[in-house]
Amino acid sequence: MSRVLLYTGKGGVGKTSVATSTAVMLSKKYKTIVMSTDPAHSLSDSLGVNIGSEATKISDNLYAQEININDAIQSHWNDLREYLTALFQYQGLDPISADEIAILPGFEEAAYLLYINDYIKNNEYDVIVVDSAPTGEALRLLSFPEVMRWYMVKIFPISRTAAKMARPFMKTFSSIPMPNDKVFKSAETLYDELGNIHEILQNPDITSIRLVTNVDNMSYNETKRAFTYLLLYNYPIDAVIANKIYPDNTGDFFIGWRDSQVKILNEIDSAFPEIKIFKSYLQDYELLGSEKLLKFAETLYNNNDPYSIFYKGKPVEFSRENNKTTVKLKLPFADKKNLNLYNRAGELIIEVNNWKRILYLPETMANLQPENAEFKNGYLYITLS
Ligand SMILES: Nc1ncnc2c1ncn2[C@@H]1O[C@H](COP(=O)(O)OP(=O)(O)OP(=O)(O)O)[C@@H](O)[C@H]1O
Ligand SMILES: [Mg+2]
Repeated sequence: MSRVLLYTGKGGVGKTSVATSTAVMLSKKYKTIVMSTDPAHSLSDSLGVNIGSEATKISDNLYAQEININDAIQSHWNDLREYLTALFQYQGLDPISADEIAILPGFEEAAYLLYINDYIKNNEYDVIVVDSAPTGEALRLLSFPEVMRWYMVKIFPISRTAAKMARPFMKTFSSIPMPNDKVFKSAETLYDELGNIHEILQNPDITSIRLVTNVDNMSYNETKRAFTYLLLYNYPIDAVIANKIYPDNTGDFFIGWRDSQVKILNEIDSAFPEIKIFKSYLQDYELLGSEKLLKFAETLYNNNDPYSIFYKGKPVEFSRENNKTTVKLKLPFADKKNLNLYNRAGELIIEVNNWKRILYLPETMANLQPENAEFKNGYLYITLS
């Protein structure tokens, strides 16, 4: 089965370097493509070769692609154009011209996702490694299929039965010109494809999202936020890569940094329980070109195969019922009498004996206080209100 490995994290933490080195390593065993969904592409720089907007062969089993929105529109032109024509016709407007499509928000995301969808559908690669944009944009990309489908349902009577019922009614009672079957069909195709890609990205047997972080407070905080949001939207995270750790022999100048890194590294272990944590040191060379990238991947993965699924399951689940928000987390062997819970500036702190867990709360829950806690079958359920 094909795998999708998506690397994201704060700007500059090493997403591209980790993605390309992972791809170089994987290509020794699997047919691999590394594609960038960051409009500021840097795969070419990282691999030291020119990469086109279609899959470009780098070596035997390695392909790379820097998607260009205009080219993507050309290759998925029909889907997008027909959908837009449908949309504009449906709304009683003239179909717009080709060039303007690129300006519509969301179409860049759609283009990236349609590529992933095609590769999986046609089983073209064993592994698709995605070098994604910094966290915020990556979250936008991941939420796109759901949001877009929601809008499509609002704008179109998207299911055919609904369309069939709505059409005679609309023809009689409104002056909006109704699109023909072909137009509905094309909107439905896009709707279905977005549904497929959504399933692909949420399926832990196919997709693994890996958070790359540096060991400083700013990128660690961003990683905690991304972790919570990705879990909230059911995306499978299987690893965190703590990158650019200072080695012990950096001398006196880095003593302060090393001390704070040790502290943050300890916290990282408790902030992402069950998720695989890879610790990766700052190298004494810039990670450029296949040879160095492979060398880096070997130290990073330390005999693990990046194709593996490092964790499957949900370390945290949020639910809401009768105005009560519940957080469920796996916590075997814990004992309620030693449990201490509190909200510290929007983070839920869970302390049991010497063990501490920090969970960034999503914006809508940031002010909620823990009200009740209960252990059941190895899980801790915390009610917030
Ligand atoms: N472990 C490491 N040791 C040494 N250099 C590193 C390491 N990780 C990354 N770098 C270097 O840090 C720089 C930034 O890395 P990279 O471009 O991969 O980050 P990025 O997260 O993709 O950045 P952007 O957000 O701009 O896309 C590069 O020069 C890269 O070679
Ligand atoms: Mg990058």
